[in-house]
Amino acid sequence: MPLRNKKIILGISGGIAAYKAAELTRLLVKAGADVRVVMTAAAEAFITPMTLQALSGHEVRGALFDPAHEAAMGHIELARWADLIVIAPASANTLARLAQGLADDLLSTLCLANPNPVMAAPAMNQQMWTHPATQRNMSLLTQRGVQLIGPASGEQACGDTGPGRMEEPATILAAVTAHFGEQQLAGRKLLLTLGPTREPLDPVRFLSNRSSGKMGMALARAAVNAGADVTIVAGPTALPEPQGVKRINVETAAQMHHHVMQEAAGKDIFIATAAVSDYRAADISAQKIKKSAEQIELTLVKNPDILADVSASFPQLFCVGFAAETQDLEKHARDKLTNKRLDMIAANPVNDGLGFDRDDNSLEVFWPGGQQSLPVSSKQQLAAALIELLANHYNKDHKRHASD
Ligand code: C5P
Repeated sequence: MPLRNKKIILGISGGIAAYKAAELTRLLVKAGADVRVVMTAAAEAFITPMTLQALSGHEVRGALFDPAHEAAMGHIELARWADLIVIAPASANTLARLAQGLADDLLSTLCLANPNPVMAAPAMNQQMWTHPATQRNMSLLTQRGVQLIGPASGEQACGDTGPGRMEEPATILAAVTAHFGEQQLAGRKLLLTLGPTREPLDPVRFLSNRSSGKMGMALARAAVNAGADVTIVAGPTALPEPQGVKRINVETAAQMHHHVMQEAAGKDIFIATAAVSDYRAADISAQKIKKSAEQIELTLVKNPDILADVSASFPQLFCVGFAAETQDLEKHARDKLTNKRLDMIAANPVNDGLGFDRDDNSLEVFWPGGQQSLPVSSKQQLAAALIELLANHYNKDHKRHASD
């Protein structure tokens, strides 16, 4: 029960994602938290207080000056009671009002009257999210210490696609748990590659693969939650990086190699989740390759192995690799562990529809002399479990090196 004895106000504002607040309430309660739900007037257009009352086990509060509630626990008392305020979904309007320091309803008043941190999971149309007014409000709020969870990117209820989807309840729960938990990687510098690479053939075509970058981004978030200072070198992916992460965008394996070798100096941990193209075109045609012959030949040359080069050049780094395999998982993973001189490798089966561009996955983790299975779950839960395992090993190893 990671949230036992934790007192949490869950603020729900108006947006279609409010229906997911029911699941979030259930997860927070299941994790042991004492949850009091506060809804804005707009939230009640999307989900009924009765649902949240049943799930939280407490009456839901809405109005600022409700005589019955004020007699039981006044709004200032409620604000003092909470260890944490989580706003999910946080609408553009609610975030704007928080940025301005308004106190014209119960939720905004509680945010002003509570000295503890506020976490917010924004949810809105992508145009509203990218609007300079919202972006300015967000930078004001983050400067003030409000911790953002998301937003995620993807299909929206309004039919648009882009950033502004509320993070999944499991991801919000992971961030809340991490907020209260021991930060196992506090002060550690972590470098991570993610996504596919693109190897150009001519000005309009390239070789690439099905990697979405989801697992890498989930790991970056889990590492931030564990207190690490995270830098990512990302192949082409539209996924937004978690708050506080330094991001370097690249296209080709050669660019990824170059930036990783530059960034690796001074880091403590390296995780290679990128699906790096093993080969690139020997010659990139300066002009678009024309359709004429029945058959054409492409000559491919090998790309540098980024992970192997990092582990050879920076022996102090704790190096973690990934192995996506369709067969003989353990054998191939253990071979890579040895050949690339890694501290740990996470292998995942990529047949049976698992693996690439999915929201769930399973991992078999190997290290010299041991292994552990992480069963199928959401990539965010899996990432949190892998970071915890990695941190346990890293901290043990690090202590050993320190006393050498
Ligand atoms: O040898 P294989 O490609 O299966 O190894 C997978 C692991 O090596 C992954 O961690 C991947 O990110 C990394 N890798 C790399 N550079 C390459 C190829 C793979 O960093 N050129």
